[in-house]
This record gives sequence, C-alpha cells and structure tokens, in this order.
Amino acid sequence: MPLKPLAARKLDAAKLAPLMGRSLLLTDDYSDDELAALLEVAVALAWLDRDGKKTPLLPHELAYALFFDNSTRTKSAWAGAAARLGMQPVIVDGSSTQVSHGETAVETGAMLGMNAHAMGVRHDLILGEGNAFMRDVKKGIDDYLAVTGDSRKVPIVNLQCDIDHPTQTLADLCWLNEMLPEGLAGKKIAVSWAYSPSYAKPLSVPQGLIMLMTRFGAQVTLAHPEGYGLMKRCLASAKSHASASEGSFRVVSSMDEAFEGADVVYPKSWGPYDLMLERVAANSARDTKRMAEIEKEALARNALHKDWICDERRMAKTKGGEALYMHCLPADIGAEVSPGVMAKHTVNVAREANWKVHVIMALLATAKVPDLARRLAAI
Ligand code: CP
Repeated sequence: MPLKPLAARKLDAAKLAPLMGRSLLLTDDYSDDELAALLEVAVALAWLDRDGKKTPLLPHELAYALFFDNSTRTKSAWAGAAARLGMQPVIVDGSSTQVSHGETAVETGAMLGMNAHAMGVRHDLILGEGNAFMRDVKKGIDDYLAVTGDSRKVPIVNLQCDIDHPTQTLADLCWLNEMLPEGLAGKKIAVSWAYSPSYAKPLSVPQGLIMLMTRFGAQVTLAHPEGYGLMKRCLASAKSHASASEGSFRVVSSMDEAFEGADVVYPKSWGPYDLMLERVAANSARDTKRMAEIEKEALARNALHKDWICDERRMAKTKGGEALYMHCLPADIGAEVSPGVMAKHTVNVAREANWKVHVIMALLATAKVPDLARRLAAI
C-alpha cells in the first residue's frame, strides 16, 4: 500500500464507512484500505489542530481508559485526543480496580462500557494476556449494548498490549509519512534491540513495527541478540506483509548489519523471550518473589549486550550517516542511545510522539461520528 503525500485532502465518505463502530485491537485487523482511510483522517485532524481549528465532534461523551502499566505519552495522548473532540477523558489505574480482586475482563467491560462512550486499555506486561483481555472487555461491552438495545458505538482502543502497540506504530507511520513524503517503498528500516538497564520492556513495539512497516514496500530488518526473539505470529505477519507489498523482511543478529545503509533506525530494548514467557506462570500464581527474580535475571541477561547502543559510530553506518532516528520513548539515554544521538533528535522524537494524539482522535472520530467527511470539510 503506498502512503499518499501528507497534505490536506477531501475525505472520501465511502472509504470511511467500514470504520464506523470499529475497535482497534491490532493493526493486522485492518485492511490496507482501512488503514489508509484512518491515516487520512489523522492527517486531516492534525492539519486542523495545527491551524488552531476546534473539532468538538463528540461533546459530552466519556472517554474511559484503563492502564495496567505506567505511561506518560499514551495517557496524555488519550486525554488530549478526547479533549480536542469535546469528550471527557477519565484515566484509571487498572490495579486500583476490582480486576485485581478477580473481576473478569468481560464483567469489567460490561460495567465500564455501559457508562462510557469509548474505552482505551493498556495491558502489556504479560504475554498471552493483554490482547485477550481487551477482546473480553469488548465482548462485555458489545453484549451489554446488544441486550439493552443501546445503539451507542463504544470502540475499544488498544493502548498497548502483549502483541501490538497500534496507536504508537500508527503515530510512527504518520511521522514517517511527514518526514519521507515520497513513501516507504524501498526504504531501509532497521528495528533493533538495544541495551536497557531499567526494566524488561514489553515486546509489543518491535512486534507492532515489523507487522505494520512491512505493509508499504519497505526493506525491514529486525536485529536482536540470541534469545530476544519475538512472537512467531508477528514474525509470520511481517513476512507475509513484506511479500504482499514487494518489500522485504529479514532477521539478523548484528546491530551494525541492520544499520548499514538504513534510511530509518528504531533501536529500543525488550525483554528476553524465555523469561517473558516465565512471567506468565509466576504472574498467574501471584508469585511476586518469582516475578522479582525473573526481572533481575532479565536485566542480568540484558547486561551481556551493553554494546547494543545507537551511538555516533553506528549512526555513521546509516545512509549518508543521517538516518531518521525514531523511538517510542522513554529511551534509556546512555544505554539504548548515546546522549549525543538523542540530543540531536530530541525534538523529532517528541514530534513523532505527538502524532499519537491525532491517531487516537481519528480512531474515535471514525468509529463514532456519522457523516465525518462532511463534518470535517465544514470545519
Ligand atoms: N511510547 C509510549 O507508549 O509511551 P508511554 O509508555 O509513556 O505511554
């Protein structure tokens, strides 16, 4: 799928129609045309925002979000998106809810969805759980709405799960579209593991990146040390998308090799796969001692690869020594990236992050606002 140049455009109502009522649980659930239509709306909303135009398309509605992990950017983007649409954002720490006392995701969805008009969820720490939790929340809401004959559209937005971080990767895609308006076909994108001493980070960002960036004809390279593989389903998806888009996808074990001639580099850390799997049983047994031991083991394992840093030497290997540096943030400066490289790109990574506001706005508006193309044209 080619990305169109970034410019204010008239939206096509027919292309937006399939997005009405839609939740976003994985980018892989959206067709190429649906993703393109969503991104057109994100761009249109960004343009209006940059022009200082107000877009109160969903006044007096509740945008509820549940976070089972820390967040700065995504919480802020959810609140910013809701406020710009005239909604009231409410963001709740998941551990403070009755989920921690065993209330199920289906029950939680029914309870919260009967009150809310949109629901965001972050549940990213335990493999096999986050995306399933979101699907159950959706079932709870959908069942409630169906049984009560309530016609409200209550989309569920994945604000990071164990498989994907779709609002992040779509924001990244919008940023790439802004920086490389000629499109991604033939561009070399390096998604690389990098050293982190801070914590065993989720796999969902690199997984989401390889599943999404391979859809546009790019040459995507995933680099990681032995033991830091990703979920098989995500690798299979990346291969399949690369083949369909006439791009390519490969996995290497050298950061230098991935950076060689790259147009774009995305170096970030994630946890060792076997230990991330071990967390599943320890978490379900509520074995906090074992969870702490696993975390310590993961950091010790990370420390074997301190040389996996995005520094000036590695950036010099990229195309013209000037690859676009990207990061979802927060970055471990001095570990994932050298202070000098980060200093050079600080404003750009903030601009990259800011796209998340417009992506979330686009998700909520396309799912909920009838006649969106005409409404936006009128603004
Ligand atoms: N990139 C990202 O999702 O940032 P937060 O964890 O701060 O939301």
